[in-house]
Formats: sequence, C-alpha cells, structure tokens
Amino acid sequence: MIQIKLLASILSCNFLRLENEIKEIQDSGCDMLHLDIMDGHFVPNITIGPDIVKQIHSISNLALDVHLMVENPSFWIEKFANAGAYSISVHQEADIHLNRLINTIKEKKIRALVSINPATSPIVLDYILDYVDGVLVMSVNPGFGGQKFIENSLRKIEYLAKYKYTNNLDYVIQVDGGVNLNNIKNLIDAGANEIIVGSALFKNIHEFVRKFKELTRIVV
Ligand code: DX5
Ligand code: ZN
Repeated sequence: MIQIKLLASILSCNFLRLENEIKEIQDSGCDMLHLDIMDGHFVPNITIGPDIVKQIHSISNLALDVHLMVENPSFWIEKFANAGAYSISVHQEADIHLNRLINTIKEKKIRALVSINPATSPIVLDYILDYVDGVLVMSVNPGFGGQKFIENSLRKIEYLAKYKYTNNLDYVIQVDGGVNLNNIKNLIDAGANEIIVGSALFKNIHEFVRKFKELTRIVV
C-alpha cells in the first residue's frame, strides 16, 4: 500500500505563536512541515530565511520540506541544507540549468524536488524526471495561502503518475495550493502522494488530520 503523507504548510499558522503551532502539528500526526520561502521577486510576497528554518529545525522533530519560491535558487541551496532541510524543491521556471541545480541539491544528501507553476506544462520535466526525488505541482499561483484550487492541476498529476509508471521511476508527487477535504480524494486517485495543506489545516488542526487519516484509511 502506498503511504499518503500530509505536509503542513506553516504559511497559514499564527506566527506570533509559531512554536506552539509546530508542537500542535507534530502532536496531530502530520508527516512533515512544509516551509514556503519567498523572496519578493519570484513571487509577490516575502516569508522566512535560513536562520528561521534553522530555529524551527531545533525545536521540531518533523522533517522539513523547503519550497523555494525565489529567484536564483542555486544561491540558497547550501544555506537551507545547512539549516536542516530534509528536502528542497526548486521551481523549473527559476533556473535554466535545472539539471545542475538538482544535482547540487542531491550532493547535499537531501531530497531534490522540482516544482511547476500553474501555467507550466509537466511535459517540460520529461528530461529531469530521471534525476529528481519528487515533483511539486503548484495548484494555485504561488505567493499566498488560502487561494482556490486550479482544477487542471489534476491532469498534471495524472501525467506525472503515468510517466512514473511507464518509465519505472520512483519520484514522489506533491500537490500544493487550495487543497481541502473535498478535493484530497481526487488528488490521491490522480497519483499525488504528498499532500500539502495550509489554510484548511489551520482552521482546526486535529480535526483536519483525523478526517485526512479517515480519507486515506491510515490508522495512526
Ligand atoms: C503558496 C504556498 C503554499 C500555501 C498553501 O505559494 O506554496 O504552500 O501555503 O496554502 P493553502 O493550502 O492555503 O492553499
Ligand atoms: Zn508551498
């Protein structure tokens, strides 16, 4: 049985009580923390940098899934690797030397994922899928939590799942943006196995995780 993982995007948490929020996420049974790194250039918002990621790492035993929404991502790999990232995803749109960038992440012995914006076709990833540990399908325009899921993202997940099967590959498929209890089942059926949730989760963390586990039939 394929294990479906739930990743908590802390973008929607109350940053004034970040430590408590992280502890609650841990206690609830989420599998990883998803950390959105925004630079105000690649996306119209600014969030946190490696120093804060390092502090989060020091108080949490959950794996840190770092989603880089920045220009010039190669500049940041070493810094976030040293801060304790378990995986780093970089946007296909942000670097023309994607193969080199993915290799740089893998040299740090952490998971290397590639992400695509809503307007990017997954077909552009055909020649990188052999090399990545995962693909992150953005199902909203990156930059903000609480947006509406873009429906054609499902087709991208199906494409990536079929490509994986046909070519006997082993990457994870993440989906990020507008995920809630009403669309999770379709996402899993399409082939997503790491589900990233922000605003829907933080409305009531324990309740959400309980319903998620029910949906995915995983007994904690
Ligand atoms: C958006 C981020 C997402 C975001 C998801 O740019 O990459 O991780 O926090 O939030 P929701 O689940 O509210 O769409
Ligand atoms: Zn994200």
